[in-house]
This record gives sequence, structure tokens and C-alpha cells, in this order.
Amino acid sequence: MKCIKPLLAAAIVMTGMTSCGNDAEALLYKDASAPIEKRVEDLLSRMTLEEKVGQMNQFVGIEHIRANEAHLTEEDLKTNTAQAYYPGFPADTIEKWTKQGIIGSFLHVLTIEEANYLQELALQSRLQIPIMFGIDAIHGNCNCPENTAYPTSIGLASSFNPDMAYKIARETALEMRAMNMHWTFNPNVEVARDARWGRCGETFGEDPYLVARMGEQSVKGYQGDMNSDDVLACIKHFVGGSQPVNGTNGAPTDLSERTIREVFFPPFQAGVDAGALSLMTAHNELNGIPCHSNEWLMTDVLRGEWGFEGFVVSDWMDIEHIHDLHATAENLKEAFYQSIMAGMDLHMHGVHWNELVCELVREGRIPESRIDESVRRILGIKFRLGLFEQPFADPATTMDVRLCPEHRQTALEAARQGIVLLKNDGILPLDARKYKKVLVTGINADDHNILGDWTAKQKPENCVTILEGLKMVAPQTDFVFVDQGWDPQSMSQAKVNEAVAKAKTCDLNIIVAGEHMFRDNWSRRTCGEDTDRSSLDLVGLQQELIERIYATGKPVMVVLVTGRPLGVEWVAEHVPALLNAWEPGMYGGQAVAEILYGKVNPSAKLPITMPRTAGQIQMIYNHKPSQYFHPYVVTPSTPLYPFGYGLSYTEYEYSDLVLSSDKMVSDGSLKVSVKVTNSGSVAGCEIVQMYLRDCYSQVTRPVKELKDFARVDLEPGESKVVEFTVTPDKLMFLDKNLKPIVEPGEFVVMVGASSADEDLLKASFVVE
Ligand code: BGC
Repeated sequence: MKCIKPLLAAAIVMTGMTSCGNDAEALLYKDASAPIEKRVEDLLSRMTLEEKVGQMNQFVGIEHIRANEAHLTEEDLKTNTAQAYYPGFPADTIEKWTKQGIIGSFLHVLTIEEANYLQELALQSRLQIPIMFGIDAIHGNCNCPENTAYPTSIGLASSFNPDMAYKIARETALEMRAMNMHWTFNPNVEVARDARWGRCGETFGEDPYLVARMGEQSVKGYQGDMNSDDVLACIKHFVGGSQPVNGTNGAPTDLSERTIREVFFPPFQAGVDAGALSLMTAHNELNGIPCHSNEWLMTDVLRGEWGFEGFVVSDWMDIEHIHDLHATAENLKEAFYQSIMAGMDLHMHGVHWNELVCELVREGRIPESRIDESVRRILGIKFRLGLFEQPFADPATTMDVRLCPEHRQTALEAARQGIVLLKNDGILPLDARKYKKVLVTGINADDHNILGDWTAKQKPENCVTILEGLKMVAPQTDFVFVDQGWDPQSMSQAKVNEAVAKAKTCDLNIIVAGEHMFRDNWSRRTCGEDTDRSSLDLVGLQQELIERIYATGKPVMVVLVTGRPLGVEWVAEHVPALLNAWEPGMYGGQAVAEILYGKVNPSAKLPITMPRTAGQIQMIYNHKPSQYFHPYVVTPSTPLYPFGYGLSYTEYEYSDLVLSSDKMVSDGSLKVSVKVTNSGSVAGCEIVQMYLRDCYSQVTRPVKELKDFARVDLEPGESKVVEFTVTPDKLMFLDKNLKPIVEPGEFVVMVGASSADEDLLKASFVVE
């Protein structure tokens, strides 16, 4: 592939010398000083129907096509949502269409060279409309090689640090623009309420309030001022797929309008309010209507109620699935028709769109004005992001931004803040003088899987594995490593035996267990997109490995690397120390080691409940009062670890919960303060949580709901008073007719260290 000199190419664009008619004519849409609305209208007025419909279409990159043509079968294509090519339409055809100006966007372009190359082709087209490159930059742009890989969203949410979400999004935007990428399919603001679902890791967890706060800061970080160093955010997936009927990705979702509005909508609405300018619809059907043809969602709610001004993009082949999966359209053309008329603007991805949508317009079924609406939205964003003025990125300077020291430092700090200490019977922090010889084993002990889902293979020097981190942080220790391979589904008995034998000779045993999320091993994964499970147990011989090492009587601890809550009940009961690292990213190994050796005091809290077993699902902290009226027999009804839970190496004491008044008028406000003291001997950061409960209400309300939180740094012995404000929006719910209401009556305020009752101080007030 050839790569043109970007500055030269940009200069060609700026001359306005086009083949679209009169060369001498001043092209308004190319005038960077003209108002964007005028530029959009000018360009739209010059476009043919084919060019317009092409702007509404997306293709996977040509390198991706070529690679897949070589090894994927047509059968694979039907179910694989990570790979694609277009049988009968080779990469050359896609290149030709790009030159013809009938492709508006690409995804899965992984290098700056390819992005610049495709852009060069697009700029040879009649109107020279630049391509907008979309990519799943879910936790950094690490779906492409050589970019910073931050922790995935579940770990980020464990920090309860929206500022960190903003920072990571901002840095990701810079790394993306340095690669000529303009649009991330993130943040995922789904409320994850089923641990079987493999995508929990790419969400901010189970609480609508926390998800909304993290999501809105991500949107702001990505989009900045929607300028040439910003990228377009995409809030996804709209909606309900995070509570599928059987826990599997894309399965039907059956939810009451109340639950949709109270639980699933708030983070999307917060994203829209934060300025998100694209939204992706969900794979699933919602109450019998596929989200991709759901007019209520895409038009009535999104645009009508929330005033969304961006564009809606479909998810991977999901408009096709209206026909070939959901079967609510008899053929593909009808599926395209239904989707567009319901509010769809941009098609991810494929070859039949242009022809069939043009036909629908020519037949008079879709008015051209409807097409114009979508194209206006898409072009407006291309202008705002400065694509016409800056269609290329510079390969000579790209690595000045990507993986720069500042971004690496953020990745490390985010990992430190996102790893949750779940159990510590005094073994941690590790004393290197006591534990001289340490066994390290388990599938995730020395593996890049810590980078998480949505990551390409990265260079070895761009990932510190847990074993490497341990060696770095405790260089005097003799670490004995027994490799269990990366694949939990094909662990070898011999290797387990070897680890058990070595364990007997060591002072301490660290087992790094969990799931496998790496995309390169798509068919062997146990967690991640399209990787759902009917059990939350450890896969393969991992449980045996842990139990047998434990049985040696030597000290043992477990670190989990996972994108979903795992039901490690036996481990929690027996093993003295347990750390949940989630998918901690490129510096995950260092951060884990720093926490184990007490260089960093853990502060993270669970943003999602850890059930004991899959049978307990749905298990959420903000359930309705009757949920455990009749508890389970034989097994407990309590979670393994509740939402908001996480330990530290110090102790925090909560006292003096004070309300500014015991009454609040329904449009007034109330201050809640609490004293938090670090009564231990090391400095730490405590995540203070405030929950509310409406005691009596005309419809049933959750037993508690998170309504605010704060990260508080405390030196040993230090106390701080933390203040929250209760405002009417925090008391609001939907009445019998689904209208927002604040009802008079008693409310309980709960403040403390987790959502568990025993961790909360309580006070009450009356709304008048
Ligand atoms: C996922 C989306 C993603 C898209 C493009 C789909 O399978 O559901 O979240 O953005 O693929 O990679």
C-alpha cells in the first residue's frame, strides 16, 4: 500500500480544484470560514442520490477484508461479529467505490497508513468528501497496535472516578486523531445486570447513576469542542441488551417501560445531555421489536423527548438481522426500509445498502428528504471534526502522541485505582522478607490477556504482565513460575501437578486465575463480546489448581483477571487473600504487584455485584423490597460481594451523619454530611457512597439507590467531613402513569463504604 504525503494531499483539497463541475466556482462547502450549516447545505445540494446514500454506509477496511478473504468461510461470517469480508466484492471493488465517493465511513482500519490511503482514494472522488474512520477505541485505541491500553470500563468504574474517565477519553481522542481516526464506538453506557453476559467488562457496571456519571465524562473527553483534535463519541447499545433473557449477547430483552425508563435510559439521556453526537442501537429486540427498527426508541424518545442532534448508527449487520434473524422484515430491502423510517442514519456495514436504499427512494417509499436528514447529520459532524481541512494524519509524528509518557502514566494510575481488594486475612501487603520464594502460576500470570477485550496484539514492551510486575516491584524475591498456558479450556493436568509440587517448596503461592478475553483467540475465549456463560465458576482446571495448592498448607492468594463478576465462593471462603484486577490494561501487572506489596493502597470498589452463582441472577443491590421476601433454601440469598464493596490497607470510620434539616420541600434541597476518619496507619483514598430510599411510594421503589459518591484522600489519623446535596432529581421516580414525580413522605439517607446495610449510617428526612 502506498502512503501519500499528508500535507501535500491536504493542500490539494484546500485548492478546491475538483472534478464536480465548474473549477473556477468558489465551493462554499470547502470554505473553512463559512458556517457549518451553510457548508452542509451547499454540499448536499451538489450530491447525487447515490452519493448521499453512500454517506450513510460504512465498510470494513481493505486490509481486514483481504485478511479474512483468505481464511473465513461464508458460514463463519453469519455469526462472527468481529470479522468480515464481502463475498463477491473483493477489496479492489471497495477501493473503487471509495474513489467514486459512495462510501462515507470505514471501520476496522487498524493503521495510519491504511487510513491515509483510503482517505487519499476518497479525495479523488467527484466531491472529495473525506471518510470518517470509526473504531472500537473502548479503553484506549488499543484495538490498533501501538496505542495506550487503559483498564476496561468495569475497572475504570471501580475507581468511581469520572475525572479519570474524562482524562482517558481525552488521551484516547488524541491517539486516535494521530492515526487519522475520528469516531470511537464508545462509551458503552448499558447498565449491566447479568454477570453471565460476556460484555460486563466494557460497561461501567450495574448502577444507572454511576454509569451515567462515568459515561457523560467519557463523552466530554472524547468530543472536547468537536474540533480537529477531538473524536466523535458513540453511546451504545440502545437499549436493554445488558439484561438479555438468558444472559447471552443479542438475545431478546423483555422489559417493562418503567424499568427501561428508570434503569436503562438515564445513562443514555445523560450521554445526550453531555453532547454525545452518535448513538448505536442494540443487537436485541426489545419487547418484540428489534431495536434497529424501533421508532419509539430512535425517534420518539431519542429525538422527541431528549432532543438528540447527532446520528444513529446500526450495530454490526443488525439491520440485516431484522430480516435474517428477527424475521420482522421479509427481505433485506424491507429491513433497510423499516430501519431508516424508524430513525436509522448510518449502516454498519455492507454492500447491498447503496443499491437497495436508492431503489427505495426511486420507488417513492423513502422520501429523499428523509435521506437528506441523515446525510445532513453525518456531514455536519465531518465538518465539525475538521475532516475537510485535515483529512490525513502525519505518520512522521504519530508516535509522538501514541503511547507517550503522559498517557502511559494515566494507564498505570487508572489500573492502580481500579483493582479491587476483596479479601485480606492479614496476608497483604506482602512482606518480601517473609516470602522469599514465591510461586506464581495460573492462566493469567504471565499473559497479555490482562489488556482485556477490545485489544489487538501489542508489542511485549507495551504490556507489563503480572509476573513481570512482581519481578519489577519485588526484585529480591525468588519467583518460581509455572506456566499454565493462556487457555483455561485446555489446561494440562501435568502442569497443575507441577505447580502443586512446586507450591510445597515455596513460602507463598500466587494464583492468577480468571477468564480469557483476548480477541485474537476469538473461539477460545471465555469472556468478552459474544462470549456468555451459563455458569460463573472458574473454567477448566483452575478450581482444582487453587484447591490443591491451598491443600498444601502453604500461604496462598488469588488474583482474578476477568471481564465479568466470577462466582468464586470457595476461594472467598478458603483463600486468605483475593484481588479482583478486572482487565487492568497495559500496566495491570505493575499495578497488581504494587498493590500486593503495599506500594499502592487499594481503593477501588465494585461497580457490579458479585453473585455466588449464576443461579442467583438477577442479583443487583438496587432490587425491589420483595426480592428476598422468601429467600433461597439450601444456598444463601446474599451476594458473594456487594456493589460498592472493596477493602483497603487502612481502616475508615464513618461518624456524625448530619442532615441540614429533617424536612425538605419538594423543590428545595438538603445537605448531608458525614465524617470519615482514616483510623489506620497508611494513607488511603476512600470512596464514600450516598444511597437513598423512598420509604412509602405509590409504586414500588428499590431498597436503596446510589445518588452520589466522593473519593476522599485521607492521611493516617486524618478526618474529613464529606458533604452531599440531596436535590429533587435524586428523589424523583415515575408515578403510576410513568410521569416524573417527587412524592411527599419519609426518605432514608444512607452513607457509607458499600451498599451493604452493615456498612451504612442512616438518617431520615421528610419531603413536604
Ligand atoms: C459490537 C459493537 C461494535 C461493533 C464494531 C459489534 O459486534 O456489538 O459494540 O462497536 O461490533 O466492532
